[in-house]
Parts: sequence; C-alpha cells; structure tokens
Amino acid sequence: MSLAPFARIPKAELHLHIEGTLEPELAFRLAARNGIRLPYADTEALRAAYLFDDLQSFLDLYYELMAVLVTEDDFEALADAYLERAADQGVRHAEIFFDPQAHMARGITLGTVVEGLSRALARSEERHGVSTKLIMCFLRDQSAESAMETLEAARPYLDRIVGVGLDSAEVGNPAAKFREVYEAAGALGLRKVAHAGEEGDPSYVWEALDVLGVERVDHGLRCLEDPELVARLVRDRVPLTLCPLSNVRLRAIDVLEQHPLVRMMDAGLLCTVNSDDPAYFGGYAGDTFHAVHEALGVHHERLRELARNSFEASFLDGSEADERR
Ligand code: ADE
Ligand code: ZN
Repeated sequence: MSLAPFARIPKAELHLHIEGTLEPELAFRLAARNGIRLPYADTEALRAAYLFDDLQSFLDLYYELMAVLVTEDDFEALADAYLERAADQGVRHAEIFFDPQAHMARGITLGTVVEGLSRALARSEERHGVSTKLIMCFLRDQSAESAMETLEAARPYLDRIVGVGLDSAEVGNPAAKFREVYEAAGALGLRKVAHAGEEGDPSYVWEALDVLGVERVDHGLRCLEDPELVARLVRDRVPLTLCPLSNVRLRAIDVLEQHPLVRMMDAGLLCTVNSDDPAYFGGYAGDTFHAVHEALGVHHERLRELARNSFEASFLDGSEADERR
C-alpha cells in the first residue's frame, strides 16, 4: 500500500504474460506441492538470477520456471495472485497473455491451462474488481505448423479466448511465417496482436501490421527509427503496448531515463504502459506508472492520458470501457 495515489489511477493492462507473474515465493510453493526440485537454494537465490543480458537470457529462465505449473489449481493460483496485485495497483481491466505451447511441450494439456486460468478470471470482477480477457500467444521461435495445431487445439475453449498474440524470441523469427495461422484466427473471429519492435528493427513492426494484420503492436519500441512507420501508426491510431521496466531489464535501453515514451507520445503515437513480466522486471502496472513519473518526469495529466489510452486500446467496447475507468 505504499504506492503514490497517481500510481493507482484506474487503468487497463494490455501487455501481461501470466507466466511472467510467477513470483519466487509462489514458484517454490508450487514446486513443493508438485514434488519438483528447483535448481535454486531459496527464493533469494532465485531472485539473484534475475539479471538478464537480453530477451533470450530472460526467456531461458522464464521457460525453466514454468515447470512448477502443473495442475489447474496451479494456474488458478497464479492468475489469482496476479489479479489481487493488479487490483491494488489500479488495474480495472486486464488482457492477459498465456503461452500454451510452452505448457503443451511439457505434457500439460491446453484444457488444464485454460480451465485453471478461467477459474480465477471468472470470479475476478467480484473478488478484485478487475474485468479480464485472455489472449493466446504463439511462440515465434516454433514452427507455423505448431502454431496451427495450437489454434486447432484451442477450438473447444474459444468462448474464453478473445485473441491471438505472438511472442518469444523476435530477432530471426519474423512474423511472415505466421500469416496463415493469423488468417485462420481472424476467420474464427479472434482479435490479433503481436510482439514487434522489441529487439527487432522496424521491419518486424511493418510485417506485424501488413502480413498479420494486427490491431495492436506489443512493444513497438523501435518504431521511432522509421518516420514512415511512425506516420502509419499515427494515421491508423494503432496502439503500442510499451513496457518500460522490461526494456531496461532486457537491455533494450540502458536506463529508464533514456526511454523514448515521451518522444513517442509527442509524435502522436497511441502509447500505453504495461508491466510485461512483472515478477521478473521489478514492477506491476502501478509501479510502472510511478517509475515513468520519477524517471521521465511524466506528469499527472500525461499519466491520465496513458490510462485513457489503455481503455481506448483495449478490446472492451466503448460503454464497457466507460464503466471501468
Ligand atoms: N514472453 C514473455 N515475455 C516476453 C517478452 N517481453 N518478449 C517476448 N516474449 C515474451
Ligand atoms: Zn511481452
């Protein structure tokens, strides 16, 4: 409860990997109940491993720790813990990513993941005052066939999945190979987003827009390198789900004071700020608002603009968004 009041401005969180909310304490608790031995002495030793050189070095640990998520109860506990924290930080609506392929590769069924998460999400409004939507991400370092199989496997659960996303290692894995699976997802009525321009150059963002037809770009950090791309994003009011604390921890930028958020807002881009993988990157949504206020001098009116943007960029319809703000 130590957050500044402006950090609790009502907001929507649009870029949040549920597996990235796995705090060390919960990881050890789940490991114990599932009889799994983690290669870390304790939570402190695990936290000490959270020093990343780049996206891949983070992903290696992120996938390793998922081993503790086995049962529906585990996924429910994970989501419930996130929603409780998010509510405390002013999040009124959360569009939550999950990575089915990372679980299915370990022998965990998609049903276990979705049913477990759904239990926590179904009572989130009542318990935490947070409305939710689920976005299923494909791993871009896996094959297009695997993505298509995952979409097929998701058919029984599409009543609980609002859209598809694309995450994992970006550079060397451009979006184009996922054209067909995004077309198929669109035909099923799913919304489309994708990570692009996190470590990858502006060509990755162009592909996400022009080949996948995404409605929202996750990160888009490097778009300022290409004025034509900025003009396109501004013209079409394509939202960017920026994650400033993630960018520092994964060394896309050196220090938060150098984050281009303010320049991006000044350029007319529809920016939102989000926490990405908050258990690993040192802050949840309200902490992130606080951090950009402190490091970048983003003042209260601009923080309110970021919060308004988050509802505009969400998949809530206009009247639903009005109710949440
Ligand atoms: N999976 C979880 N967090 C991610 C990120 N920041 N970029 C790409 N894939 C991810
Ligand atoms: Zn992400």
